Amino acid sequence: MARAAQNALYTDTTLTFRNVSVTAVYDIYTISSGKPLDWSCAATCQCLTGTVSAGSCRTCPLTYQENTMPNTALITGASAGIGRAFATYHARKGGDLIITARRADELDALKAELEKDHEVSVTTVPLDLGATGGAQKLYDAINGQRIDILINNAGFGGHGNFIERDLDTDLAMIDLNVKALVSLCHMIGRDMAAQGGGKILNISSTAASMPGPLQATYFATKAYVSSFSLALAEELKDKKVTVTVLEPGFVETEFAAVADLEGIPLTSSGGATPAAVAKFGYDAMRRGELLVINDTKLRFLTGWVMPFLPRKMLLGMVRKMQTK
Ligand SMILES: NC(=O)c1ccc[n+]([C@@H]2O[C@H](COP(=O)([O-])OP(=O)(O)OC[C@H]3O[C@@H](n4cnc5c(N)ncnc54)[C@H](OP(=O)(O)O)[C@@H]3O)[C@@H](O)[C@H]2O)c1
Repeated sequence: MARAAQNALYTDTTLTFRNVSVTAVYDIYTISSGKPLDWSCAATCQCLTGTVSAGSCRTCPLTYQENTMPNTALITGASAGIGRAFATYHARKGGDLIITARRADELDALKAELEKDHEVSVTTVPLDLGATGGAQKLYDAINGQRIDILINNAGFGGHGNFIERDLDTDLAMIDLNVKALVSLCHMIGRDMAAQGGGKILNISSTAASMPGPLQATYFATKAYVSSFSLALAEELKDKKVTVTVLEPGFVETEFAAVADLEGIPLTSSGGATPAAVAKFGYDAMRRGELLVINDTKLRFLTGWVMPFLPRKMLLGMVRKMQTK
């Protein structure tokens, strides 16, 4: 049911949310199960027209939260890996999506799957986000549609001695990992501020916490993403726009193959699943957290060990972890 139709059909009411009575602005749904109100649709919901089953009640649980947090998400790099997992998790919660990456066929397959399984609306925008004007092209394709959640996830890395690497590849990495992310934060962050709120999740890496010999450019791009995101979070907090930065450790995706990282100590012991990392980051974004690391050991190492190591020792350790 369209949101406008809900507004017309149902009047204001009071309902219970986590044992607190709140006034819903426009829905008259009530939670019959008494379970916490949540996007996960765990609860069976009732409205004036009868009971709505858990799977189809995607607009229903938003009665309270939607007043502050509506649900269209723009996710970059959604054709694979963590981005695909973000899109799936958001759809499971009943949110509509705009997904983008270069591979149109992968985006189309994901759209078909999510629309069928979760009754959400998915728009695909296949493009090269790292190309000159890529972010502007994406913004133009959105065509003024309200974005409530922006997940800047697209990115890639690359292994090898910097001066032996192809310079254009490293510059393209900066274009995608940094310039496209900054551009989207500017364009959509401005819209979110004007619309009175929104949530931005920027995908950095634990690589942000240290210089990365043999991945010098990639680690530096992620240091930029973390620093930029934290500053932006402070600037936007008065506008009710939250910015969260997620710093995953190694995740089992196409990333290692693309970056030629297979076989190095950093990746050989395996990593987290994209689904687990996406859930962790998404939930943190929903709570409006500032910076989160999904891996407990890495959280300790980057926060409490690495900052106190002599720099030369740290550089040697990171280089060893990345040597084939
Ligand atoms: N995997 C890890 O160990 C790890 C750890 C920490 C942080 N991260 C970060 O997590 C994010 C997602 O990585 P992932 O592990 O999910 O990698 P992935 O499986 O390789 O997915 C990368 C995504 O980015 C898209 N992409 C790449 N180049 C693009 C371009 N020029 N224009 C538009 N889209 C592009 C890819 O789609 P197309 O190829 O279809 O364009 C794909 O959807 C990245 O920012 C990465 O730096 C990953």
